[in-house]
Amino acid sequence: MKKTVLITGGAGFIGSHVVRLFVNTYPDYAIVNLDKLTYAGNLQNLVDVENAPNYTFVKGDITDAEFVQQLFQQYQFDGVIHLAAESHVDRSISNPMEFVTTNIIGTVTLLNAARANWKDAANDKRFYHISTDEVYGSLGEEGFFTEETAYDPRSPYSASKASSDHLVRAYFHTYGLPIVVSNCSNNYGPNHFPEKLIPLMIHNIITGKPLPVYGKGENVRDWLYVVDHARAIDVIFHKGVNGETYNIGGYNEWKNIDLVHLLCKIMDNKLGRNPGTSAQLITYVKDRAGHDLRYAIDSAKLTRDLGWKPSLQFEEGLAKTVDWYLANSAWLTNITSGDYLKYYEQQYHQR
Ligand code: NAD
Ligand code: TYD
Repeated sequence: MKKTVLITGGAGFIGSHVVRLFVNTYPDYAIVNLDKLTYAGNLQNLVDVENAPNYTFVKGDITDAEFVQQLFQQYQFDGVIHLAAESHVDRSISNPMEFVTTNIIGTVTLLNAARANWKDAANDKRFYHISTDEVYGSLGEEGFFTEETAYDPRSPYSASKASSDHLVRAYFHTYGLPIVVSNCSNNYGPNHFPEKLIPLMIHNIITGKPLPVYGKGENVRDWLYVVDHARAIDVIFHKGVNGETYNIGGYNEWKNIDLVHLLCKIMDNKLGRNPGTSAQLITYVKDRAGHDLRYAIDSAKLTRDLGWKPSLQFEEGLAKTVDWYLANSAWLTNITSGDYLKYYEQQYHQR
């Protein structure tokens, strides 16, 4: 069946994998990628699909109500997969307002446009909001986040995502907008911006810089390969039930310090360094304010109801990720030097 699907934030880390999956899997769909190209948006992530006949890139801001409304009128979207966001906890601590603006106002702006344009035949439509497990707060040593866990966000990032999740659900209950929400654990893989733990460590190991581990390195995250998240998004977009929430996770918990040691081991091997060389770069630094201790997702509902399971074991996914960064040193250099911003100017002849 033909569909026109809006993917917001498609030039970012996860969004680019979702765009690629949809463009390649659904030749009959028209995929429109709306992205503001903030520091985190990078069209180089999508060079392999940029000329595909079923793909269109639009530069724009999800908080601009007039522009978003025009876009909905122009394209008559059948579905929205909403990933555009400010996504880095440390940045949210230094600049919370940007997170309120993009993550909350931006989401409501999209909801309003969907509501205004989907008055009739709303049942054929779908507004899919992509969120994080961080909305559930911080776990102790035991237990998992389920879809029933009460929200308890503790950083400006997670609070802004929690707020947007509530608004999306409110549009379902109040206006009958056909929505679905998923909350995913930490992603890793190719095209991950090197401000987040794994790509930052890979970059610093390559360049021989200190590896900054916050606090004692005892915080635990549940890591999922980004392509497995994109596969889950595909399944939920097509088979999820309106009004429902699905948790997505890898059953793959790692203490930060153990993960950094594993990365050092993999990279010493791949770089031909003596075992133990990279681990000498580990440097304990001041802890993040309000640092959540542990995240762990129970994704049983998604497996039971929609048949999704992660496909990659962590060691395999991490080795693939390291290989990608080593093979794509130009991508990393462009980002760390800011040169990637020039790519857009060259490609589209505008700012
Ligand atoms: P990212 O920071 O890599 O990408 C975000 C994208 O959104 C960028 O391309 C950016 O240019 C775009 N964007 C930002 N503000 C915009 C605006 N006002 N208008 C249009 N585009 C804008 O983020 P990511 O890690 O790919 O995360 C994508 C989504 O998935 C987010 O909603 C995030 O909360 C969620 N999520 C992320 C993770 C993770 O581990 N990274 C885990 C679970 C959920
Ligand atoms: P991050 O990748 O920022 O994801 P999130 O905070 O959304 O889970 O961080 C993952 C974990 O790694 C988190 O516990 C903070 C920690 N961390 C470090 O120890 N050092 C770093 O330089 C960064 C960026 C993160």
